[in-house]
Amino acid sequence: MSEYRSLSRGELSELLAELKDKFTHYREKGLSLDMSRGKPGGEQLNTTDKLLDALGSESRKLTENGFDVRNYGLPDGIPECKRLFSGLLGVPAENIIVCGNSSLNLMFDYISQCMTHGTGGCEPWIKQGNVKFACPVPGYDRHFKVLEYFGIEMINVPMTAEGPDMDVLEELIKDGSVKGMFCVPKYSNPEGITYSDKTVERIAAMKPAARDFRIIWDNAYIVHDIYDEGDTLSEIFAQCKKYGSEDMVIEVVSSSKITYPGAGVAAIAASNANIAEIKKRLSVQTIGHDKVNQLRHVLFLKDADGIAKHMEIQAEHLRPRFALVLQKFENEFSGKGIAEWTKPKGGYFINLVVPDGCASRVVALCRHAGVTLTDAGAAFPYGKDPNDSNIRIAPSYPSLDELSAAMEVLCVCVELAAVEKLLSE
Ligand SMILES: Cc1ncc(COP(=O)(O)O)c(C=O)c1O
Repeated sequence: MSEYRSLSRGELSELLAELKDKFTHYREKGLSLDMSRGKPGGEQLNTTDKLLDALGSESRKLTENGFDVRNYGLPDGIPECKRLFSGLLGVPAENIIVCGNSSLNLMFDYISQCMTHGTGGCEPWIKQGNVKFACPVPGYDRHFKVLEYFGIEMINVPMTAEGPDMDVLEELIKDGSVKGMFCVPKYSNPEGITYSDKTVERIAAMKPAARDFRIIWDNAYIVHDIYDEGDTLSEIFAQCKKYGSEDMVIEVVSSSKITYPGAGVAAIAASNANIAEIKKRLSVQTIGHDKVNQLRHVLFLKDADGIAKHMEIQAEHLRPRFALVLQKFENEFSGKGIAEWTKPKGGYFINLVVPDGCASRVVALCRHAGVTLTDAGAAFPYGKDPNDSNIRIAPSYPSLDELSAAMEVLCVCVELAAVEKLLSE
């Protein structure tokens, strides 16, 4: 800490008393604001409501190859929806399976399949003893929960401004018990980092000791730019092709944050061999996903251009929320040396880093004052942030007024925790 660090103990004590008064003032307001998850707000959801009319009872119910979407069948999805995702991902339609409403579900099922049946002709992971995953941190809490559920050991790999620290990752994969990695390559959750071309190429070029090493390329924020100028992400399978490593990557995506998070469409993209393995399991698991919803999405979104236009409308809702948070941080923290934060060009999150040892105190103080944030530590395996310094900010859900009130509280709590810490040193 620079500026606050240079204050005398007397000055810090005075500041602490002021901050405590401010905190009491906010606590007495009896706020009840939830910023714990990256969900669209109600108004943002309304912008998608024409989706509900896209398939009225009088309209078409047949796919382009004459299949009735109301009936059982087509477990790998309707052809026009495969084409929609093909346009979105830049992957051939035959390498895509369109499924139900959740990509998290697809990831869980894929890990489960590797555990019980193995992949690439290798032994099931559960028979291979202690299996491990590389985990870029901070990361998406639900990835870590899936791994924890299956008893897969998680090893932290620090994130850099260009993606995971590749020197660390390349070293880690020399261990044959390291079987994979979950990652969010564009507008990562929670930092909003997009992997650089060099990082994507180094990932594609990896030669892990484990033949059954799998990267779950979770492209949840692939088209989620907030500004006209967004980040670009190199297409992973094109890079893998150069190195013959297509079997190493399983890509997932969904329309959760394009249309409705509870009623979107999810898809999985993979090499021919991996698609064959997944289809074999799916043929037992389901007689078909919700094809009515798949067709509705095609009629509403149309194609990749249609998706891009719809995302511009979504961005109009997110932009002022991101601007409000960033402006507030700038106003309240600049020059004090008590916080750093990311300035993403897209996605759903801003990452705030407070002094070591202060994140859980900040989150607890906020909760006390009626503002619920994502739990401190959630962005790390086992819920343990080694520095206790990381806080995920999810500005999408509250109204602008609520967000502004929540930011007032958060900023006071960060200062309070930081000054307490300085006084305790
Ligand atoms: C990185 C990431 N992946 C997946 C999901 C969940 O996606 P789905 O709704 O498709 O299950 C989220 C939701 O916040 C996410 O942030």
